[in-house]
Amino acid sequence: MGRKNLVLSFDVGATGIKAGMVDLVKGELITDKYKLATPHPATPKAIGNKIREIIKVFKWDSGKVACGFPSVVRDGVCYSAANIDSSWVHINAEEVLEEITGYPFSVINDADAAGIAEMTYGNGLDETGTVLLLTLGTGIGSALFIDGKLVPNTELGHIEFRGDIAENSVSNRARKDRMLDYAEWAEELNEYLLYVKKILSPKLIILGGGVSKRWNLYSHMFSPDLPVINAKLYNDAGIIGAAVYAHPELLPDDLKIKVISALTDS
Ligand code: BGC
Repeated sequence: MGRKNLVLSFDVGATGIKAGMVDLVKGELITDKYKLATPHPATPKAIGNKIREIIKVFKWDSGKVACGFPSVVRDGVCYSAANIDSSWVHINAEEVLEEITGYPFSVINDADAAGIAEMTYGNGLDETGTVLLLTLGTGIGSALFIDGKLVPNTELGHIEFRGDIAENSVSNRARKDRMLDYAEWAEELNEYLLYVKKILSPKLIILGGGVSKRWNLYSHMFSPDLPVINAKLYNDAGIIGAAVYAHPELLPDDLKIKVISALTDS
């Protein structure tokens, strides 16, 4: 498939690899999401092989494949591996995925990708000032925007909270491991968000990740002075934003200008 404005995009997570075809005009997936379990150990070779399998399903033939990845990523190179195999560190993910699949790749941190999607099509649209998106999944990812411009690779899930990194107590994985119901979990999440608010004073905090579909079960636990809302694109934000990052040239003109300036130097 290779129609204008369509991008094949992946979201690699600790538990699953998801892919879909993103329409950059609509800012949405136009196919069902294709999902495979993340292999363990989640090495470059094992993940690359899964991605190659999925690309075949989509019959992609038009340029860079997009990919959100759970690591600090600069110029395609991974600099952390909290929830994937440590052998990714210092690996150029774009080069490795191209070697394994035969397709060129654009790789970005998964939370930064989700943030880009929310700022382009979702609840961050046209927001100025400091906007923070947090993804709550196996880990906690963060994407920070100042006047619409991305500050890439913030890792607010890894700041110390209650004597450990925050994602170990308030990610959705931690909620399940600790057998907390949504309200109990959100009470602690609220504390973490207040702590983050103290550090950054964001104008807006957008919560994404798989758990964003359950917003109604926990949003009542948040303090009234927390400027927190749910991700409009729910858990699809990562796939959609990675596609925007990979192919800003395919965006409609008004969005193109905004996104290219938001990403300059990032
Ligand atoms: C990783 C981040 C990632 C987040 C969500 C964290 O453990 O360090 O890079 O964005 O998980 O996947």
